[in-house]
Amino acid sequence: MTTPYVGRPTNRVDGIAKVTGRAKYAAEIPAEDLAYGVVVSSSVAKGQIKSIDTSRALAVSGVLQVLTHENRPHLAWFNRKYKDDDAPPGHHFRPLGDDQVRYSGQPVALVVAETFEAARCAARLVKVEYNSVAPETNLDEHLDRAYEPKRTKPGFEKPKARGDAHEALSRAPIKMSADYIAPAEHHNPMEMHASTVIWEGDGKLTIYDKTQSVLNSKQYVCNVFGLKEDDVQVMAPYVGGAFGSGLRPQYQLPLAVMASLILERSVRVVLSRQQMFTFGHRPNTKQSVQLGAEEDGALKSIIHESFAETSKFEDYTEVVVNWSGLAYKCDDVHLDYKLVPLDLATPTDMRAPGAAYGMYALESAMDELAAELKMDPLDLRLRNYVDVDQNHLGRKFSSKELRACYEQGAEKFGWSRRNPEPGSMRDGKKLIGWGMATGLWDAYQSSCSAKASFNVDGTVTVSCAITDIGTGTYTIMAQIGADAFGLPIEKVKVRLGDSTLPQAPLQGGSWTAASVGTALAAACEKVKRKIFDLAKKNASDLFAGQKVDKIAFKDGFICVKGDDSRGMEVARLLEFEGQESIEESASKKPNLLKQGIFGRNTHSAVFVEVKVDEDTGMTEVSRVVSAVAAGRILNPKTARSQILGGVVWGVGMALHEGSFLDHRIGRFMNHNYAEYHVPVAKDVDQIDVIFVPEEDGIVNPLGVKGLGEIGIVGTAAAVANAIHHATGRRVRDLPITPDKILGLS
Ligand code: MOS
Repeated sequence: MTTPYVGRPTNRVDGIAKVTGRAKYAAEIPAEDLAYGVVVSSSVAKGQIKSIDTSRALAVSGVLQVLTHENRPHLAWFNRKYKDDDAPPGHHFRPLGDDQVRYSGQPVALVVAETFEAARCAARLVKVEYNSVAPETNLDEHLDRAYEPKRTKPGFEKPKARGDAHEALSRAPIKMSADYIAPAEHHNPMEMHASTVIWEGDGKLTIYDKTQSVLNSKQYVCNVFGLKEDDVQVMAPYVGGAFGSGLRPQYQLPLAVMASLILERSVRVVLSRQQMFTFGHRPNTKQSVQLGAEEDGALKSIIHESFAETSKFEDYTEVVVNWSGLAYKCDDVHLDYKLVPLDLATPTDMRAPGAAYGMYALESAMDELAAELKMDPLDLRLRNYVDVDQNHLGRKFSSKELRACYEQGAEKFGWSRRNPEPGSMRDGKKLIGWGMATGLWDAYQSSCSAKASFNVDGTVTVSCAITDIGTGTYTIMAQIGADAFGLPIEKVKVRLGDSTLPQAPLQGGSWTAASVGTALAAACEKVKRKIFDLAKKNASDLFAGQKVDKIAFKDGFICVKGDDSRGMEVARLLEFEGQESIEESASKKPNLLKQGIFGRNTHSAVFVEVKVDEDTGMTEVSRVVSAVAAGRILNPKTARSQILGGVVWGVGMALHEGSFLDHRIGRFMNHNYAEYHVPVAKDVDQIDVIFVPEEDGIVNPLGVKGLGEIGIVGTAAAVANAIHHATGRRVRDLPITPDKILGLS
């Protein structure tokens, strides 16, 4: 008898394929007669292409074609409205669309050759002349051009103001006011963006794309090139990290498709690491927070205003201030969010878009307010704890175990032993600091379909078009399938990342487990019902008069609950009926009624210990405790990995990360792994993850809330607050590098 997998730490079912190299990524898929494309990137940030001389490139042996805006074919997208599922409002960038240069690194040509080496060599020989104009890339210098976005992505609307926050602030006895700056960040997944387009003949394409949605890539390709749905299949069985960078189709995809259609052969385009810095990023933001409180810590006013960069052609909105009206009890709240258009690529979602930076500012501000109040930072949070979603007319939360997160996190960390005085704790030459913060994210569910099939060989196949960007989707699908039929997990085959499979949303927003899980559980139920009908027909002595809820599936048998000595082997049943499999699909939508009535969020409390070297200003994050309430945890092992990843990124956000522009040429300069710093093992010594039990019968039938993003939210603030506690210095400009701690810049 197998014990249930859901809720049990379960190894990744795709783990061995990944570590042995058997898992193939978009740039590794073999194809016959494959040609290789290399992108030529604009060397200026703004202006017009005066001329492109491709003669020297074309003369390189093995070069097949150089595509530019001058010779590319007329495309369907010029005739029709096209978009991708994650497109913000605006005029979407069209690679090789015209002679205008909109940002540095924009693709201006694609060289296609028999070998990658020939294409790369020839790409350097394409001579582009520009009429270049000075780019505007400095957020700070262009705040006067800021505007309120007219439209946001659905679901990301800014909450309304409530009360009169400015008046309330003026009356509050205790207040704080500060600006927080956070740089642009690039995603930098290990796998670079790549597309292998396999020419199947007759204009039919099979595309392996690095994406967070094969359906989005497919739709995009069909729309851009005017292709029929049946002629395009997009696959992404494995994705080597994405973090949001794969939510929108990136430019290697249309360029590879264009070349394939023209040459009528298979083409692969892989971006270089430097080119990974030439599309979406987390936008540079400048936020200002003002908080007012009574002497006892009761919040009287929250004012959170933010400027964020966008491109000059799309309004990317992530509304960083949205969580500030939600986190704490407060009647007077003013939130403002404005965009500053710059000569840069359109920013795009990155892990916990909006909350990652917004909660950094709010939670840093809460720490500053606690200092003004001479109050423990945790006590201040508890003083303002709220049980209703004030952003939305006081609706209740579907569940909220944040209080337990605070308690269990503080207990594990030893928070009660904190000496409130900054600079009061040390370990030799190192100043020790303890900081904490709250994390908040949304618990979404999206419409999704899935299919389950019980096969005559005794295995189960579960499938969905969803991708697994490393989050553990393969594994939770296998767990759900195994439990539904009482099978060992080895008997469950998972198929995903294929546009011919049942409809799935983008993989993002931490909604995958809730969306796919709900649909898949329903599909399994339908299969079980069908098997039951078959069993009744074939073994009426066993099953006649039984209700479906009295039926159990165990180790490949269908039996009556409580009497598993008598049952029928399902595989034999199928064999007897001459059926290869019993297959059912189910589609599940979020319950909109419940969604309207309840607030749905994940919560966390993050506690951080830092050690700051007094002489060098080097910060070491010696301990992190992240206590998370995210509903039911399907797989504590992969779930923990998600939180670890988020926490590490939060540490990176606080101490290391940032893409820095040379405003004279409008280009991100540290576009490589040597100069774009991320934490390494030595930077994150000890991370404890606590999952606080949280029952939620409302959020979705499985009661899961998703974990991909909550781990990052709040972590950077907890680190910054710990640094203040260690040193007495407030650095409000991320990343907090040693020079800033020492006051040298
Ligand atoms: Mo996530 S930023 O929704 O991939």
